[in-house]
Amino acid sequence: MPELLDLHPAPADVRRLVIEGLSRNPKQLPAWFLYDAEGSRLFDLICQQPEYSLTATETALLEAQAPAIAAALGPGTLLEFGAGSARKVSPLLEAIEAAGRPPAYVALDISAAHLQQACGRLQRRHPAASIAGICCDYSQLQALPEHPLLSGSAHLGFFPGSSLGNFEPQAARELLRQFRRLLGPGGTLLIGIDQPKPVARLEAAYNDAAGVSAAFALNLLARLNRELAGDFDPAAFRYRARWMPQASHIEMALVSERAQTMQAAGRRWSFQAGEPLITETSAKYDPEAFLALAAAAGWRGAQRWSDPAGDLSLHLLVQADSEH
Ligand code: AVJ
Repeated sequence: MPELLDLHPAPADVRRLVIEGLSRNPKQLPAWFLYDAEGSRLFDLICQQPEYSLTATETALLEAQAPAIAAALGPGTLLEFGAGSARKVSPLLEAIEAAGRPPAYVALDISAAHLQQACGRLQRRHPAASIAGICCDYSQLQALPEHPLLSGSAHLGFFPGSSLGNFEPQAARELLRQFRRLLGPGGTLLIGIDQPKPVARLEAAYNDAAGVSAAFALNLLARLNRELAGDFDPAAFRYRARWMPQASHIEMALVSERAQTMQAAGRRWSFQAGEPLITETSAKYDPEAFLALAAAAGWRGAQRWSDPAGDLSLHLLVQADSEH
């Protein structure tokens, strides 16, 4: 079994964050709050909906370009931030092995149970790879822990899935800076970024016909009810996903069907008819806009791979002050 380091991430102060989020105007909760056990299951299901092509497109791109990407990455240890089920790294591990190098991979994730399962499955699939897991909140981590896989080898960050999109521009820049700190001098970052596309396609991707996206958002209310003694009635809210061109993001929200007052976290919360509770935003960047954001965080684009239709890109970033 791969080794698992548990850095015991402090449980976020959920109650405080919920009170803060519901006090905002418009009301908005942190996106990670969507991912309880049921939310994680629903997200995996979203990734299988025909309208949400991001996962399939990025996976196909990784498979098609793995040899070129592995060559560009060079030797080192792959570190995936928020690895989840770690289903995307396999083509890279295979290409590294095919190039005659020993694959080394470290998965970082907030959920210890998820991480253990993912690393175990990956090790069975890639017996020659050195694999370890670190249970941590990568956005708060001060430094990487001491580990043989992390000493003396280059650090190759891997952040697929366009997860950066969930962060507002300032937080996104801060996260890219954090990755730079964690990966250290000479560290590189392979990051998947979804791009703007026709509005109808984007809105359908975040509001699939089968209703999985809606169920994913509505699950937030079930979580509030369960964990914070809430009395939200899911039937009194309607799910909405809309493209906001100014912000270049999809805004996902639960819209109150009528004026109503609910309880959660020991307080009363009033909604007007039509008032939204924003569940998350998902920013889309064209390559130039993304590279400008990356540059503000000290990264420079070294290479880019796109799918044939030009829906998304994998960017290989190097540190702006490095020699590469
Ligand atoms: C995990 C943030 C990349 O924004 O596309 C998908 C989350 N939410 N459908 C995205 C999500 C609803 C997803 N990210």
